[in-house]
Amino acid sequence: MKFFVDTADVDAIAELNDLGMVDGVTTNPSLILKSGRDILEVTREICSIVSGPVSAEVVALKAEDMIAEGRKLAEIAPNIAVKVPLTWDGLKTCKVLSSEGKMVNVTLCFSANQALLAAKAGATFISPFIGRLDDINLDGLDLISDIREIYDNYGFDTQILAASIRTANHVTQCALIGADVMTAPPAVIKAMASHVLTDKGLDQFMKDWAKTGQKII
Ligand code: E4P
Repeated sequence: MKFFVDTADVDAIAELNDLGMVDGVTTNPSLILKSGRDILEVTREICSIVSGPVSAEVVALKAEDMIAEGRKLAEIAPNIAVKVPLTWDGLKTCKVLSSEGKMVNVTLCFSANQALLAAKAGATFISPFIGRLDDINLDGLDLISDIREIYDNYGFDTQILAASIRTANHVTQCALIGADVMTAPPAVIKAMASHVLTDKGLDQFMKDWAKTGQKII
């Protein structure tokens, strides 16, 4: 499973990238706001750090305007994936941009039918939002399973990019289901390294080591 980082925080991306944990990056208007940076400038900087797909989202609502924004974003670097919302205009935009050979990430997906439409429109990535479905008492992971089954039934090559991941357990479940990619905030990726028994075991080893009175260096 590929790991994308869901942030526009350049320092956080660089730290994880140095560890080999970053296969790509996803951003959205809320994350650009959080970064406090200009979208073109920060996206360019991210693309200079990460060689995998970097999603940059259009903000227009009409297809014609989305297409123009998508083309401008795609000029930033060859690894830009233009992110469009799962609306009818977003699907039209997806079809046009993917026909031009650009990577397209169709975002804000909350149903299997939406994912089916995105695949038929030539999406490179479909982004089903797990956490936001969980927030309204639905099961976001069920959606990942349904899309996996449907795409496999018909051989669609659109990649399932599990998004709105809130916990390390979401990552495990997505990997078990077979999501192609997951995108998570840096804190969730770091949380994957934690285990209470690791902490407990290390604490015991440190206590016992101190009792030996030895040093390695
Ligand atoms: C994905 O591309 C989105 O940017 C993101 O995963 C949304 O996550 P959230 O629901 O936690 O805001």
